[in-house]
Amino acid sequence: MFTFENKIAELAEQTTYWTAAEALSLLSIPPDSSHGDWSLPCFNLAKKLRKAPKAIAEELAAKFPAPQGFAKTEAINGYWNFYVDKATFIKIILDEIKEKGLEFGFAPAKNKTVAIDYSSPNIGKELAFHHLRSTMLGNSLARIHKANGFRVERINHLGDWGTQFGKLIVIYLKENLPTDEQTLSNLTVKELNKLYASFSTLCKKEPELEDKARDAFAKLEQGDEFYRKLWAAFREATLKELVRIYKIMGVDFDHYTGESFFEDKIPAVVEELQNKGLLVNSQERDVVTLGDDMPPCLIRKSDGSTLYATRDLAAAIYRKKEFDFDKCLYVVDNGQALHFKQVFAVLGKMGYEWSNDCEHIPFGLILHKNEEGKWEKGKTRTGTASLLRDVIEAASAKILAVINEKNPELANKEEIATKIGVGAIVFNDLKNRRLMDVKFDWDAALSFEGATGPYIQNAHVRLCSILRKSGKNIAELQFKSEELLDQSSCDLIKMLSRKAEKINIACESREPYILAQYSLELAEAAHKFLHDNRVIGSAEENSRLFLVYCTQQVLGSTLEMLGIAPIKEM
Ligand code: ARG
Repeated sequence: MFTFENKIAELAEQTTYWTAAEALSLLSIPPDSSHGDWSLPCFNLAKKLRKAPKAIAEELAAKFPAPQGFAKTEAINGYWNFYVDKATFIKIILDEIKEKGLEFGFAPAKNKTVAIDYSSPNIGKELAFHHLRSTMLGNSLARIHKANGFRVERINHLGDWGTQFGKLIVIYLKENLPTDEQTLSNLTVKELNKLYASFSTLCKKEPELEDKARDAFAKLEQGDEFYRKLWAAFREATLKELVRIYKIMGVDFDHYTGESFFEDKIPAVVEELQNKGLLVNSQERDVVTLGDDMPPCLIRKSDGSTLYATRDLAAAIYRKKEFDFDKCLYVVDNGQALHFKQVFAVLGKMGYEWSNDCEHIPFGLILHKNEEGKWEKGKTRTGTASLLRDVIEAASAKILAVINEKNPELANKEEIATKIGVGAIVFNDLKNRRLMDVKFDWDAALSFEGATGPYIQNAHVRLCSILRKSGKNIAELQFKSEELLDQSSCDLIKMLSRKAEKINIACESREPYILAQYSLELAEAAHKFLHDNRVIGSAEENSRLFLVYCTQQVLGSTLEMLGIAPIKEM
């Protein structure tokens, strides 16, 4: 494939001073565009050649003619700078977008698999707003990896097993709720949430309920039929609501293999630990010790019931067998860092070298403003955290109000409002590095100005509406590179050309914010281009329209990689 970077790398190799790969890793984009489009620093050659970098760069620039696609090269202060031939550059980039469309910038298939564990909420509870982070980061990382050439296995490791079910069973029976099929199949997650709350309240008066819950879970693990029936109903009720919300948010999974799925795979894991001499009995529990820098990993409690970590061990082994992953990513909040360190360490002790391919992808908290106007962490247990469902509804309602005021005739306005509302929440979540806490400020996130989802959607809509208004068939448009040589067109095209590089950086660093920032830069470059150039009715109409189309494709696909549905009208 022709790329400008490759052309420079080929030339660099001809000089015999670098290999192509070295040159590619050294290439950078000069901050000042008057210094060219790419720059190859000569500093690391100084020692080897016993010459000043400045002299080396000058010698190279004098000796070697500019490679194909470049207008000239120049030496500046020890850098060998390359200036693309603008018309060639424009033609190559726009032709490629014409051919690949939304997939422009995607990497060729790598024959590598990445398994991504994300969202993975606990059953029996409504999806709280803080689950948004794992869901959206994971959804975006899955899309980014796919674009970067990986096979992706999207896994929802539902928390559908564990003591919390003992709690639900105990309170359900204590409140004498009906257990006939009909009632059970109509259970809602709302009711389950309430049951949790009553369990917590009641426990303050009757602390022995905690023991009862533990016993109930042990009984469930041992296969008690009646308890299983209750558990299945709780799971089903939660799943129904979850899937409904995932659908609104455009989130998908390939596997809903929750913790319960590993139940029958656990005895083999415990046996393996035993056979490998790793299981130690300590304070009546079976653990794997992990040296001085980590507490031991708990495998089995005295009553024989297993733990979160045990199920994660079984899940990791299963995933390796099933998917033969090259990487397994766990998109889970930072609070679980120790848990994953322990699980990966145990896998390592079991002799699994691939434990090094397991990676915890942590992220910061979501903060809300409390009544005193201070930022604080939302709490689900006491029920004060906003529920995701409520947040989505409220965001959509606010956007709908704006549409009703500005464009009341718009068709499907409810659907569009939901898409913009969800997109606003997602963008607000992904616009910063993932380890930063996210301050959720309603007015800021839903604003059509600044670094927001609605602002980007607005840019996309603007591009779409120009294409629509032109009434032309885009597929048949012919562009002329010479008509796009003005500064803002060139700047925009250069921005488009960086898509592949941005995808790769976002993928390698597991940071969707790279693409969120890129979408902002694209939107700004597009507005600037449209500000400086009339499109419809100009002499360059076809070329400019084609650039509008290319920009819409790149921006639309970038939004999709973030998990935001690009809209065409609003
Ligand atoms: N269910 C857990 C929670 O809500 C997250 C599970 C993350 N994935 C995993 N394999 N442990 O805290």
